[in-house]
Amino acid sequence: MSKHTPQQLQPEADHRFHIPVLLDKVVELLAPQSGETYLDLTAGYGGHAQAIANRTGDHKALTLVDRDDNAIKQLQSFEQKGARVVHDDFVHFAQAAVASGDKYDMVLVDFGVSSPQLDRAERGFSILRDGPLDMRMDNRQSKSAFDVVNHTREQELVKILREYGEERPSNAVRVAKAIVRARPLHTTKELADAILSTHRGPYQKIHPATRTFQAIRIAVNDELQQISKLLHIVDNLLQPHGRIAFISFHSLEDRLVKQYLSDEVKAGYEASLQLITKKAILGKIYDVHNPRARSASLRAAVKNKKKG
Ligand SMILES: C[S@@+](CC[C@H](N)C(=O)[O-])C[C@H]1O[C@@H](n2cnc3c(N)ncnc32)[C@H](O)[C@@H]1O
Repeated sequence: MSKHTPQQLQPEADHRFHIPVLLDKVVELLAPQSGETYLDLTAGYGGHAQAIANRTGDHKALTLVDRDDNAIKQLQSFEQKGARVVHDDFVHFAQAAVASGDKYDMVLVDFGVSSPQLDRAERGFSILRDGPLDMRMDNRQSKSAFDVVNHTREQELVKILREYGEERPSNAVRVAKAIVRARPLHTTKELADAILSTHRGPYQKIHPATRTFQAIRIAVNDELQQISKLLHIVDNLLQPHGRIAFISFHSLEDRLVKQYLSDEVKAGYEASLQLITKKAILGKIYDVHNPRARSASLRAAVKNKKKG
């Protein structure tokens, strides 16, 4: 079987089931005004973008970026109404936009994976739906989960599991050994089974492979490096008084955003941004009916008027 061949295709998930996370709070914090410009660096299926467009009243003022070809296809309806839709990773896009001097009134970064990415077995993100070991958000990229799982040395796998999965050291060693023993692994089920073999007895709510899957996904897509690089430059994309919001889904993402915003605040008079949210706004409190929001945290800031 080739490394990206789907083993068992599931029907495509309906994108209407991607419910945007913390939608009301995002709209409240970004506070769209008629005619303002909006940059969505992780536009996905356009749920947040649509809510913003409903308030600004102009699709032409939307710039929608995503690294996933499937998301880009779903965003065609926005393009037909005049939005700019860009298939790119947000670092590459932001670097080019900064170089061109582009600035926006609102920017949103909603990290992580979308429900359609998780739900489609052939994307290889899911523990519960068997598919090929893929996990690439951008299918133009060559490195996939197959490569990380099968071609990474055991010590390096331990490091990935500890750093990106926040796995306990003893668990990371045990899981890495089980993966190396079971190689070659081709499917998500084979990987999940290898990890389950290290687990004694039945598990409760959370599948024992959850942290490993998160870690491998982060490694495949260089997710934390993407976030760190973006945070270095993203304030340059804001107009004076421009608002920016970040939605994180796990502590590794949120830690980077929190640190970045608190460094900005400490810069005092020199600060380029000011916090709008003193503390993170949590999905488990403010978006209780949306299962995807359970681990979400939202932080937002506004650009100082002197720092155009
Ligand atoms: C949680 S979803 C966004 C959902 C979106 N806010 C909506 O309302 O439909 C995250 C999206 O970000 C994209 N993404 C993740 N990392 C990215 C990156 N570094 N550059 C560009 N897009 C990225 C994923 O492909 C996915 O479509």
